[in-house]
Amino acid sequence: MRRAGKTLSEAAAAVQWIPPADAQPVAWHELFGRVAPVEVDLGCGDGSFFIARAEQHPERDFVGVELLLGRMRTACRAISVHRLTNARVVRYESTAFVQHLLPPGSVDGFYLLFPDPWPKRRHQSRRVVTPLFLRGVAKALTLGGRFRIATDQADYYKTIVRLARDLPELDPISGLSDDVLPQTTFEKRFLAAGDEIHRLVLRKSLT
Ligand SMILES: C[S@@+](CC[C@H](N)C(=O)[O-])C[C@H]1O[C@@H](n2cnc3c(N)ncnc32)[C@H](O)[C@@H]1O
Repeated sequence: MRRAGKTLSEAAAAVQWIPPADAQPVAWHELFGRVAPVEVDLGCGDGSFFIARAEQHPERDFVGVELLLGRMRTACRAISVHRLTNARVVRYESTAFVQHLLPPGSVDGFYLLFPDPWPKRRHQSRRVVTPLFLRGVAKALTLGGRFRIATDQADYYKTIVRLARDLPELDPISGLSDDVLPQTTFEKRFLAAGDEIHRLVLRKSLT
């Protein structure tokens, strides 16, 4: 498909953000060409959640982080089909991303929605939420910024709540959200199957 002088695949490639090997923390205003609040969807999968949010909130900028090339490409194509200028996708590992690529206090909202569950005990060390990961998120959040987490795994949820207690700068807040959030692809599947979903919202209250 050709649009505005570009094939769809050329347009999709233009919304990828490929950090160089010696990447420094990103200057958001250079990436998006403006100063605006930034939200980051960690493990964004096909990107349907943050792309829907980017459509609802043209005044904000959105980044999806995803390891799998196929899913990342699906997200890139959706961004170009919807002609969004406020969304980008980066193929990167989430912990390395929050640790190394984000300036402190620069992200207004993080999402970790249905992270890979790794339910078997011997695989749980592969789970993305670790003290290092949470410290990276806490450092990158703006004061008052929120980190929203959802999982269908009760024991993973309990682990996340326990690990978050060790970070005095992140406060759990009650209520799901002050905003109606789009459903993710995995969330729709879990809801259709009648699975229980565990949600946590953490707000950065100290620098
Ligand atoms: C269960 S899927 C959920 C996708 C999406 N958030 C949703 O709710 O539909 C988890 C996603 O996280 C990605 N992922 C897993 N570990 C990751 C990591 N360390 N860094 C970045 N992405 C990761 C996987 O490739 C997968 O697409």
